[in-house]
Amino acid sequence: MRKKVTVIGAGHVGECTAMYLAQKNICDIVVIDIIEDMPMGKTLDLSQAGPVVGYDVKLEGSNDFEAMSGSDIVVMTAGFPRKPGMSREDLINKNAEIVGPVSEKVKKYAPDAMLIMVTNPLDIMTYHAWKVTGFPTERVFGQAGILDSIRFRTFVAWELGVSLCDVQAMVLGGHGDTMVPLPAYTTVSGIPITELITEDKIKAISDRTRNGGGEIVKLLKTGSAYYAPAAAVVEMVDAVLNDRKRVFPVSAFVDGSYGIKGIYIGVPVILGSGGVEKIFELKLNPDDMASLQNSAKTYKEWLGVLGY
Ligand code: NAI
Ligand code: 2OP
Repeated sequence: MRKKVTVIGAGHVGECTAMYLAQKNICDIVVIDIIEDMPMGKTLDLSQAGPVVGYDVKLEGSNDFEAMSGSDIVVMTAGFPRKPGMSREDLINKNAEIVGPVSEKVKKYAPDAMLIMVTNPLDIMTYHAWKVTGFPTERVFGQAGILDSIRFRTFVAWELGVSLCDVQAMVLGGHGDTMVPLPAYTTVSGIPITELITEDKIKAISDRTRNGGGEIVKLLKTGSAYYAPAAAVVEMVDAVLNDRKRVFPVSAFVDGSYGIKGIYIGVPVILGSGGVEKIFELKLNPDDMASLQNSAKTYKEWLGVLGY
Protein backbone atom coordinates (compact mmCIF):
# COMPACT_ATOMS: atom_id res chain seq x y z
CA MET A 1 0.00 0.00 0.00
CA ARG A 2 1.19 3.51 -0.76
CA LYS A 3 2.05 5.88 2.05
CA LYS A 4 -0.41 8.68 2.74
CA VAL A 5 0.43 12.35 3.22
CA THR A 6 -2.15 14.97 4.16
CA VAL A 7 -1.62 18.65 3.48
CA ILE A 8 -3.81 20.91 5.58
CA GLY A 9 -4.42 24.27 3.93
CA ALA A 10 -4.95 24.27 0.16
CA GLY A 11 -3.64 27.80 -0.39
CA HIS A 12 -0.44 28.66 -2.22
CA VAL A 13 1.99 26.56 -0.17
CA GLY A 14 -0.47 23.68 0.23
CA GLU A 15 -1.29 23.36 -3.47
CA CYS A 16 2.36 23.58 -4.52
CA THR A 17 3.30 20.98 -1.90
CA ALA A 18 0.65 18.64 -3.31
CA MET A 19 1.90 19.29 -6.85
CA TYR A 20 5.60 18.66 -6.16
CA LEU A 21 4.69 15.63 -4.04
CA ALA A 22 2.57 14.15 -6.82
CA GLN A 23 5.47 14.63 -9.24
CA LYS A 24 7.64 12.48 -6.97
CA ASN A 25 5.10 9.62 -7.14
CA ILE A 26 5.92 8.55 -3.58
CA CYS A 27 2.58 8.77 -1.73
CA ASP A 28 -1.15 9.26 -2.00
CA ILE A 29 -2.10 12.82 -1.12
CA VAL A 30 -5.06 14.32 0.71
CA VAL A 31 -5.54 18.10 0.75
CA ILE A 32 -7.87 19.62 3.33
CA ASP A 33 -9.15 23.19 3.57
CA ILE A 34 -12.14 24.92 5.15
CA ILE A 35 -13.09 26.69 1.93
CA GLU A 36 -16.02 24.74 0.52
CA ASP A 37 -15.15 22.50 -2.45
CA MET A 38 -11.90 24.34 -3.21
CA PRO A 39 -9.50 21.47 -2.23
CA MET A 40 -11.62 19.08 -4.30
CA GLY A 41 -11.26 21.38 -7.30
CA LYS A 42 -7.49 21.70 -6.90
CA THR A 43 -6.86 17.97 -6.46
CA LEU A 44 -9.15 17.10 -9.39
CA ASP A 45 -7.16 19.48 -11.56
CA LEU A 46 -3.84 18.08 -10.27
CA SER A 47 -4.98 14.48 -10.90
CA GLN A 48 -5.75 15.38 -14.51
CA ALA A 49 -2.15 16.60 -14.99
CA GLY A 50 -0.90 13.10 -14.07
CA PRO A 51 -1.18 11.51 -17.53
CA VAL A 52 1.21 14.04 -19.09
CA VAL A 53 3.46 14.77 -16.12
CA GLY A 54 3.76 11.05 -15.39
CA TYR A 55 2.29 10.39 -11.98
CA ASP A 56 -0.49 8.09 -10.90
CA VAL A 57 -0.80 8.65 -7.15
CA LYS A 58 -4.24 9.26 -5.68
CA LEU A 59 -5.08 12.90 -4.98
CA GLU A 60 -8.13 13.67 -2.87
CA GLY A 61 -9.49 17.01 -1.64
CA SER A 62 -11.74 17.36 1.36
CA ASN A 63 -13.44 19.78 3.73
CA ASP A 64 -13.61 17.02 6.33
CA PHE A 65 -10.65 16.66 8.68
CA GLU A 66 -11.39 12.97 9.13
CA ALA A 67 -9.99 12.50 5.60
CA MET A 68 -6.49 12.63 7.14
CA SER A 69 -7.08 9.34 9.01
CA GLY A 70 -4.26 6.86 8.52
CA SER A 71 -1.79 9.51 7.29
CA ASP A 72 1.89 8.80 7.70
CA ILE A 73 2.67 12.51 7.52
CA VAL A 74 0.56 15.62 8.00
CA VAL A 75 1.85 18.94 6.64
CA MET A 76 0.28 22.01 8.22
CA THR A 77 0.09 25.05 5.97
CA ALA A 78 -3.23 26.40 7.30
CA GLY A 79 -3.02 30.03 8.30
CA PHE A 80 -2.51 33.55 7.11
CA PRO A 81 0.60 34.65 5.21
CA ARG A 82 2.07 38.05 5.88
CA LYS A 83 1.52 41.09 3.69
CA PRO A 84 3.93 43.96 2.99
CA GLY A 85 4.90 45.78 6.17
CA MET A 86 4.19 42.79 8.43
CA SER A 87 6.72 40.59 10.21
CA ARG A 88 6.06 36.87 10.58
CA GLU A 89 5.59 37.46 14.31
CA ASP A 90 2.64 39.79 13.61
CA LEU A 91 0.77 36.57 12.74
CA ILE A 92 1.18 34.89 16.16
CA ASN A 93 -2.31 35.31 17.57
CA LYS A 94 -4.27 34.96 14.32
CA ASN A 95 -2.43 31.82 13.27
CA ALA A 96 -2.37 30.27 16.75
CA GLU A 97 -6.18 30.43 16.63
CA ILE A 98 -6.05 28.29 13.49
CA VAL A 99 -3.13 26.01 14.40
CA GLY A 100 -4.51 25.14 17.85
CA PRO A 101 -7.86 23.64 16.77
CA VAL A 102 -6.38 22.08 13.63
CA SER A 103 -3.69 20.39 15.76
CA GLU A 104 -6.51 18.94 17.89
CA LYS A 105 -7.89 17.37 14.70
CA VAL A 106 -4.45 15.96 13.85
CA LYS A 107 -4.26 14.43 17.32
CA LYS A 108 -7.72 12.92 16.87
CA TYR A 109 -7.55 11.62 13.31
CA ALA A 110 -3.83 11.02 12.69
CA PRO A 111 -2.40 10.17 16.12
CA ASP A 112 0.55 8.22 14.69
CA ALA A 113 1.55 10.72 12.00
CA MET A 114 4.61 12.90 11.75
CA LEU A 115 3.57 16.55 11.79
CA ILE A 116 5.55 18.94 9.60
CA MET A 117 4.70 22.54 10.37
CA VAL A 118 4.86 25.37 7.85
CA THR A 119 2.48 28.01 9.23
CA ASN A 120 4.23 31.18 10.44
CA PRO A 121 5.70 32.31 12.72
CA LEU A 122 7.15 28.90 12.16
CA ASP A 123 9.13 28.11 15.30
CA ILE A 124 6.32 29.35 17.52
CA MET A 125 3.54 27.54 15.66
CA THR A 126 5.62 24.34 15.78
CA TYR A 127 5.88 24.64 19.55
CA HIS A 128 2.14 25.35 19.76
CA ALA A 129 1.26 22.30 17.63
CA TRP A 130 3.61 20.12 19.69
CA LYS A 131 1.90 21.24 22.91
CA VAL A 132 -1.62 20.75 21.54
CA THR A 133 -1.00 17.34 19.95
CA GLY A 134 1.13 16.04 22.81
CA PHE A 135 3.10 14.08 20.19
CA PRO A 136 6.73 13.22 21.00
CA THR A 137 9.11 15.99 19.92
CA GLU A 138 10.77 13.85 17.24
CA ARG A 139 7.39 13.62 15.45
CA VAL A 140 6.67 17.38 15.36
CA PHE A 141 9.06 19.63 13.49
CA GLY A 142 9.01 22.61 11.17
CA GLN A 143 10.18 23.62 7.71
CA ALA A 144 12.13 26.85 7.50
CA GLY A 145 15.85 26.09 7.54
CA ILE A 146 15.82 24.34 4.18
CA LEU A 147 14.09 27.36 2.63
CA ASP A 148 16.52 29.81 4.21
CA SER A 149 19.46 27.63 3.13
CA ILE A 150 18.28 27.26 -0.47
CA ARG A 151 17.92 31.04 -0.66
CA PHE A 152 21.51 31.37 0.60
CA ARG A 153 22.64 28.71 -1.90
CA THR A 154 20.92 30.52 -4.76
CA PHE A 155 22.53 33.87 -3.97
CA VAL A 156 25.99 32.27 -3.60
CA ALA A 157 25.58 30.45 -6.93
CA TRP A 158 24.55 33.69 -8.66
CA GLU A 159 27.51 35.54 -7.16
CA LEU A 160 29.99 32.94 -8.41
CA GLY A 161 28.23 32.10 -11.68
CA VAL A 162 28.12 28.40 -10.77
CA SER A 163 25.36 25.81 -10.80
CA LEU A 164 22.69 26.18 -8.11
CA CYS A 165 23.14 22.46 -7.55
CA ASP A 166 26.80 22.72 -6.49
CA VAL A 167 26.30 24.99 -3.48
CA GLN A 168 25.57 23.61 -0.02
CA ALA A 169 24.71 25.87 2.91
CA MET A 170 23.53 25.87 6.48
CA VAL A 171 21.26 28.51 8.03
CA LEU A 172 20.32 28.06 11.69
CA GLY A 173 18.16 29.87 14.23
CA GLY A 174 14.57 31.06 14.11
CA HIS A 175 12.77 31.68 10.81
CA GLY A 176 12.87 35.47 11.05
CA ASP A 177 15.21 38.43 11.18
CA THR A 178 17.45 36.69 13.74
CA MET A 179 18.26 33.66 11.54
CA VAL A 180 21.95 32.77 11.38
CA PRO A 181 23.47 32.01 7.95
CA LEU A 182 26.76 30.13 8.44
CA PRO A 183 29.34 31.02 5.74
CA ALA A 184 31.87 28.73 7.47
CA TYR A 185 29.59 25.77 6.69
CA THR A 186 28.75 26.90 3.14
CA THR A 187 30.66 25.29 0.29
CA VAL A 188 30.80 25.03 -3.48
CA SER A 189 31.45 21.36 -4.24
CA GLY A 190 33.35 21.17 -0.97
CA ILE A 191 35.25 24.48 -1.35
CA PRO A 192 34.46 26.86 1.55
CA ILE A 193 32.89 30.06 0.18
CA THR A 194 35.19 32.01 2.48
CA GLU A 195 37.93 31.13 -0.06
CA LEU A 196 35.88 32.28 -3.04
CA ILE A 197 33.88 35.35 -2.00
CA THR A 198 35.00 38.47 -0.16
CA GLU A 199 33.84 39.09 3.39
CA ASP A 200 31.76 42.12 2.30
CA LYS A 201 29.97 40.13 -0.40
CA ILE A 202 29.29 37.26 2.02
CA LYS A 203 27.80 39.76 4.44
CA ALA A 204 25.56 41.19 1.73
CA ILE A 205 24.43 37.68 0.72
CA SER A 206 23.72 36.79 4.37
CA ASP A 207 21.67 39.97 4.77
CA ARG A 208 19.69 39.26 1.61
CA THR A 209 19.03 35.71 2.89
CA ARG A 210 17.78 37.03 6.24
CA ASN A 211 15.41 39.28 4.34
CA GLY A 212 14.65 36.67 1.65
CA GLY A 213 11.00 36.15 2.63
CA GLY A 214 10.37 39.90 2.97
CA GLU A 215 11.90 40.59 -0.46
CA ILE A 216 9.31 38.28 -2.05
CA VAL A 217 6.40 39.65 0.03
CA LYS A 218 7.31 43.13 -1.21
CA LEU A 219 7.20 41.97 -4.82
CA LEU A 220 4.07 39.82 -4.58
CA LYS A 221 2.17 42.41 -2.51
CA THR A 222 -0.72 40.06 -1.59
CA GLY A 223 1.05 37.22 0.20
CA SER A 224 4.34 35.40 0.63
CA ALA A 225 6.58 32.91 -1.15
CA TYR A 226 5.34 29.44 -2.00
CA TYR A 227 7.30 27.62 -4.72
CA ALA A 228 10.58 27.31 -2.80
CA PRO A 229 8.79 26.74 0.55
CA ALA A 230 6.75 23.88 -0.93
CA ALA A 231 9.82 22.35 -2.57
CA ALA A 232 11.54 22.47 0.82
CA VAL A 233 8.60 20.70 2.49
CA VAL A 234 8.70 17.96 -0.13
CA GLU A 235 12.41 17.35 0.61
CA MET A 236 11.42 16.72 4.22
CA VAL A 237 8.49 14.46 3.35
CA ASP A 238 10.71 12.40 1.06
CA ALA A 239 13.39 12.10 3.76
CA VAL A 240 10.86 10.75 6.27
CA LEU A 241 8.79 8.51 3.99
CA ASN A 242 11.87 6.89 2.48
CA ASP A 243 14.03 6.92 5.63
CA ARG A 244 16.69 8.87 3.72
CA LYS A 245 18.61 10.09 6.80
CA ARG A 246 18.95 13.48 5.11
CA VAL A 247 20.81 16.22 6.97
CA PHE A 248 18.86 19.47 6.97
CA PRO A 249 18.38 22.51 9.14
CA VAL A 250 14.94 21.94 10.65
CA SER A 251 12.96 23.63 13.39
CA ALA A 252 13.40 20.94 16.04
CA PHE A 253 12.87 20.79 19.77
CA VAL A 254 16.19 21.74 21.34
CA ASP A 255 16.71 20.73 24.92
CA GLY A 256 20.29 21.52 25.83
CA SER A 257 22.26 21.60 22.56
CA TYR A 258 23.90 24.96 21.78
CA GLY A 259 23.06 26.05 25.33
CA ILE A 260 19.39 26.33 24.27
CA LYS A 261 16.64 24.68 26.28
CA GLY A 262 12.99 23.87 25.77
CA ILE A 263 12.12 25.60 22.48
CA TYR A 264 11.78 24.88 18.78
CA ILE A 265 14.47 26.49 16.66
CA GLY A 266 16.42 25.77 13.47
CA VAL A 267 19.29 23.32 13.98
CA PRO A 268 20.95 20.69 11.75
CA VAL A 269 19.28 17.31 12.14
CA ILE A 270 19.13 13.83 10.65
CA LEU A 271 15.66 13.33 9.18
CA GLY A 272 14.49 9.77 8.63
CA SER A 273 11.57 7.47 9.29
CA GLY A 274 11.88 8.26 13.00
CA GLY A 275 11.39 11.99 12.27
CA VAL A 276 14.11 14.09 13.89
CA GLU A 277 16.54 11.29 14.72
CA LYS A 278 19.49 13.36 15.89
CA ILE A 279 20.54 16.98 16.33
CA PHE A 280 24.08 17.79 15.25
CA GLU A 281 25.84 20.22 17.54
CA LEU A 282 28.24 22.14 15.29
CA LYS A 283 31.29 23.98 16.56
CA LEU A 284 30.28 27.60 15.99
CA ASN A 285 32.57 30.60 16.17
CA PRO A 286 31.76 32.91 19.11
CA ASP A 287 29.83 35.42 16.94
CA ASP A 288 27.60 32.77 15.33
CA MET A 289 27.01 31.08 18.70
CA ALA A 290 25.99 34.43 20.20
CA SER A 291 23.66 35.08 17.24
CA LEU A 292 22.04 31.65 17.59
CA GLN A 293 21.53 32.10 21.31
CA ASN A 294 20.12 35.58 20.70
CA SER A 295 17.69 34.10 18.16
CA ALA A 296 16.64 31.44 20.70
CA LYS A 297 16.13 34.10 23.37
CA THR A 298 13.88 36.08 21.02
CA TYR A 299 11.71 33.04 20.26
CA LYS A 300 11.47 32.07 23.92
CA GLU A 301 10.09 35.56 24.54
CA TRP A 302 7.62 35.29 21.63
CA LEU A 303 6.25 32.05 23.13
CA GLY A 304 5.13 34.17 26.08
CA VAL A 305 2.54 35.81 23.82
CA LEU A 306 0.74 32.44 23.72
CA GLY A 307 1.15 31.98 27.45
CA TYR A 308 3.95 29.37 27.25
P1 NAI B 1 -2.71 31.04 1.72
O1 NAI B 1 -3.52 32.13 2.27
O2 NAI B 1 -2.49 30.95 0.25
O3 NAI B 1 -3.30 29.63 2.20
C1 NAI B 1 -3.67 29.37 3.50
C2 NAI B 1 -4.83 28.40 3.44
O4 NAI B 1 -5.16 27.98 4.78
C3 NAI B 1 -6.13 29.02 2.87
O5 NAI B 1 -6.57 28.28 1.75
C4 NAI B 1 -7.11 28.94 4.02
O6 NAI B 1 -8.44 28.70 3.63
C5 NAI B 1 -6.54 27.76 4.80
N1 NAI B 1 -7.06 27.68 6.16
C6 NAI B 1 -7.31 28.70 7.03
N2 NAI B 1 -7.81 28.21 8.17
C7 NAI B 1 -7.88 26.86 8.03
C8 NAI B 1 -8.31 25.81 8.86
N3 NAI B 1 -8.78 26.03 10.08
N4 NAI B 1 -8.25 24.55 8.39
C9 NAI B 1 -7.79 24.29 7.13
N5 NAI B 1 -7.35 25.26 6.30
C10 NAI B 1 -7.40 26.52 6.74
O7 NAI B 1 -1.28 31.11 2.46
P2 NAI B 1 0.08 30.40 2.03
O8 NAI B 1 0.87 31.29 1.18
O9 NAI B 1 -0.23 29.03 1.57
O10 NAI B 1 0.83 30.33 3.45
C11 NAI B 1 0.34 29.49 4.46
C12 NAI B 1 1.15 29.66 5.74
O11 NAI B 1 2.48 29.19 5.55
C13 NAI B 1 1.29 31.11 6.20
O12 NAI B 1 1.21 31.17 7.60
C14 NAI B 1 2.69 31.48 5.74
O13 NAI B 1 3.24 32.53 6.47
C15 NAI B 1 3.40 30.18 5.98
N6 NAI B 1 4.64 30.02 5.23
C16 NAI B 1 5.69 29.50 5.91
C17 NAI B 1 6.87 29.24 5.28
C18 NAI B 1 7.99 28.60 6.02
O14 NAI B 1 9.11 28.58 5.51
N7 NAI B 1 7.77 28.08 7.19
C19 NAI B 1 7.06 29.56 3.87
C20 NAI B 1 5.86 30.06 3.22
C21 NAI B 1 4.70 30.29 3.90
C1 2OP C 1 9.21 33.01 3.69
O1 2OP C 1 10.31 33.11 4.26
C2 2OP C 1 6.80 33.19 4.09
O2 2OP C 1 8.23 32.58 5.82
C3 2OP C 1 8.03 32.55 4.46
O3 2OP C 1 9.08 33.27 2.49
